[in-house]
Amino acid sequence: MMLSVEERLREKKAAVEDYMAKALAGQESLLFAAMRYAVLSEGKRFRPLLVLASGESFGVSQEVLLPFACAIEFIHNYSLIHDDLPSMDNDDFRRGQPSCHRAFGENIALLAGDGLLTLAFEIMLQAPTPEAFSRRKLEAIAEVSRQAGPEGMIAGQFLDITLPVEELTEEQMIALMQKKTGALITASVKVGAIMGGASAEEMKAVEEFGRKLGLAFQVRDDILDAAEEGSSRSSVMKPNFVHWAGKERAYQLIRELVGEAVEAMKRIGRLTEEIHFLSFKLLDVAKP
Ligand code: IPE
Ligand code: IPE
Ligand code: MG
Ligand code: MG
Repeated sequence: MMLSVEERLREKKAAVEDYMAKALAGQESLLFAAMRYAVLSEGKRFRPLLVLASGESFGVSQEVLLPFACAIEFIHNYSLIHDDLPSMDNDDFRRGQPSCHRAFGENIALLAGDGLLTLAFEIMLQAPTPEAFSRRKLEAIAEVSRQAGPEGMIAGQFLDITLPVEELTEEQMIALMQKKTGALITASVKVGAIMGGASAEEMKAVEEFGRKLGLAFQVRDDILDAAEEGSSRSSVMKPNFVHWAGKERAYQLIRELVGEAVEAMKRIGRLTEEIHFLSFKLLDVAKP
């Protein structure tokens, strides 16, 4: 029986969750309990699904891709634990439950984040990748390091806490979103393409896809945050695209970005049903 794209993505999400649960199993310490608490909660798993969808569009098996999908989701989850800390966004809730530091204390949450970040690299390095892929594997790990590091996601988090909210320029607003969120999403799609041996031209298109989708993702997140204001969220005043440019521009920008992102994949003949579905899902907040 043919599965629908939604059913296929549901199965992939379950495979990612199973892989992550196994990677965190078998350790009874409070540290691992905190890591499991943060990771194995209700996330969308957008980045690991992108790793699988991108890699599969280049003919790579799920088995080869899963360690990378899991590692990137671990890095994402570490970034969320640290992002919620009192010295950062001071958020008490994450994914419908108390944030990691609210449940385990700040000191343990900090270490749970550190643990996930380092474990991610161990998982990628120890991935049972076929011999012929070993060069690609190193390239993929280098890509993840760069995008997650102080010129990528961390640079974005730094801008997020240091730029003056009142006088943000367009350039700053875009750079901030591209780095804090776009970078890891770009890494997700590029890792799939790297493992699939994409050509330079293909890689350029995949990168464009990732950058545009990643930016759209953060604009969507800002729309959701702006809509939630006044509720229980305790986020301090932070740069938000909706405050900066208004809701209408936010909707318009997401629509443009998703359209252009998908076009880039179409251009190289890699626009699969999964990639199309995951991309257009971001428009669920954009008014027609
Ligand atoms: C939230 O990420 C934080 C951002 C980087 C925008 P997600 O919206 O992917 O959160 P989960 O993983 O689904 O909970
Ligand atoms: C978080 O951005 C980005 C990273 C964790 C790298 P936000 O602060 O906008 O994400 P939420 O709103 O807390 O999920
Ligand atoms: Mg936050
Ligand atoms: Mg947000």
